[in-house]
Amino acid sequence: MIAIDHLERSERFTMLSWAVAPRPIAWVSSMSLDGTRNLAPFSFFTIASTDPLVLMIAIEPRADGTPKDTLANVMATGQLVVHIVDVDRIAEVARTAEESEATFDELADLSLPTTDAHVVDVPVVDDCIAVFECVLVETRRMGYETLVFARVVAARVDERVMAVRDRITPEAIRPLGRIGSTFTDSARIDLPQVRRRAQRCTGALR
Ligand SMILES: Cc1cc2nc3c(=O)[nH]c(=O)nc-3n(C[C@H](O)[C@H](O)[C@H](O)COP(=O)(O)O)c2cc1C
Repeated sequence: MIAIDHLERSERFTMLSWAVAPRPIAWVSSMSLDGTRNLAPFSFFTIASTDPLVLMIAIEPRADGTPKDTLANVMATGQLVVHIVDVDRIAEVARTAEESEATFDELADLSLPTTDAHVVDVPVVDDCIAVFECVLVETRRMGYETLVFARVVAARVDERVMAVRDRITPEAIRPLGRIGSTFTDSARIDLPQVRRRAQRCTGALR
């Protein structure tokens, strides 16, 4: 047993980020009130609700206590776009995690092709597995992190990963994930094998 009250914050982070894994990565675009575009990855990210469709991202402050650009933008404009990306984009995702001035445009830096969103006034990065245009529902301070609850108002999913009955084929996608402080390919699991093992355990395969 670990006496968690005695853990340093970095130790808490290490424990949780390696144990609660792999995590999906939300690659979040946002825009400041003066029109500066921003892009950054977040892995403290999950589905908060399916009806309505709400996503949740936990954003920690910068080391100096000021809010990260994504949080500042979302609080100012109430809009963001969450992208789910393929493992091939690992270098671009890592680059957009680097701390930069609020005036720095990560999309321009990487020459990322973008298109206009349908509903929100935030750029959409092209060629992603999924794109969720969101409006802010609320932010909630939860100790060190600030939770961002974002309602999906428009979604597009790449045709490559669509199959019959509009369901995504798990074998067809290789979403980039996070384990601890490193990246992971969340599709490396041998799904048929895992399913066979589950069948042996439960006697039922759905
Ligand atoms: C894969 C990955 C996941 C990350 N997840 C988070 C996260 O969940 N919360 C957070 O506050 N920072 C996270 N970061 C760090 C931010 O991306 C980083 O602080 C970034 O500079 C924030 O950019 P911004 O100031 O433009 O919002 C993550 C970094 C990487 C590489």
